Amino acid sequence: MSAEQLERTLPTGWYRSPEIFRIEKERIFCREWLAVCREEELPKPSDHLVLDMLGESVLLLRNREGALRAFYNVCRHRGSRLCRSAGEASDASRVVLAGGITAGRLIVCPYHQWSYDFNGALVAAPHLGAGTGFNKQEFHLYPIGAESWGGFVFLNLTPAAATPLATQLGAIPERLQRYPLADLRIGATIRYEVAANWKILCENYNECYHCGGVHPELCALVPSFREAGGANLDWIRGVPHRDGAYTFTRSGTTPRRAFPGLNADEQIRHKGELVYPNMFLSVACDHVAAFILYPRGAERTDITCHFLFETHEIDKPGFDPSDAVDFWDLVNRQDWTVCESVQNGIRARVHTHGYYAPMEDWNLDIRRYVTERIGAFVHEQPS
Ligand code: FES
Ligand SMILES: [Fe+2]
Repeated sequence: MSAEQLERTLPTGWYRSPEIFRIEKERIFCREWLAVCREEELPKPSDHLVLDMLGESVLLLRNREGALRAFYNVCRHRGSRLCRSAGEASDASRVVLAGGITAGRLIVCPYHQWSYDFNGALVAAPHLGAGTGFNKQEFHLYPIGAESWGGFVFLNLTPAAATPLATQLGAIPERLQRYPLADLRIGATIRYEVAANWKILCENYNECYHCGGVHPELCALVPSFREAGGANLDWIRGVPHRDGAYTFTRSGTTPRRAFPGLNADEQIRHKGELVYPNMFLSVACDHVAAFILYPRGAERTDITCHFLFETHEIDKPGFDPSDAVDFWDLVNRQDWTVCESVQNGIRARVHTHGYYAPMEDWNLDIRRYVTERIGAFVHEQPS
């Protein structure tokens, strides 16, 4: 097979250029629904988080009725940050609110004390009350779309132009309908900082051509990962484990029960979904590994990996998720290492693009997804 017959990756600059990343921010991340956290991270009315999404500070909260609301974290008066984030330096992906909320009732700007309710309406501005002609209705906080599916919170930074979340998710909820995603809880979390472009991570997630060389322990559990470069894997039905194994742990077994309601395949096979643009879902019969990507720049992506389990398993005395967590952490680090190797390798001045081998066809979908959204705005086109 000659080079002309192979599909090309996106141009190298698309994985490296701050200008391309800026275009992606505007054309992809500010327009699509982004997975940001789990609903259980804001369990009660008035709970709130400050998030950094693509450099935008976002105030995510539950109003007094418990509904999710999100706003740009900026005052409509002179633009002060409304709520400071605590520990920003130590936890760049998500930080707990440190100030700006009074007694769980109002968002009060620290500068001139304009006060907003939890639906974003300006309710008080000092010395601009009745008789001053000041129209509070014109100073609503800038809204951000907030929805949830499967227990995941999704935000849309341009809500006026957003398609419904269900449209964006497409057939994924149906394919995962027997997994009790919304009822699962976080049993463990690992956060990673990866020196690689978010698309390199997506492309790595979408192919198993690399598994034979990079993941020996994983291939011992799932022998078909090393067969034909992963060309024959049936991700819709699920990928089988070795005989006697049925979940993603080193032994392939676990004391946890399978989720009730899974079909016969799902009780012993593994499925994976790339939830565009920033979440990977890997589902086993007893746990889910959810990877939320936070693109930080052209060559840097932070990843929060939540391990989700049934509540009654987490509540058992001595609950120990390490059989799944340790195995995933091993595989994850192998993946991040090769992704960083790509990010480093493509700096070579002679490298203008790479190629996709035939068994990497799922990556054509990532190329299509990105090209459709930013191609018209980028000078250097894929060929
Ligand atoms: S900047 Fe917020 S009240 Fe003035
Ligand atoms: Fe991998």
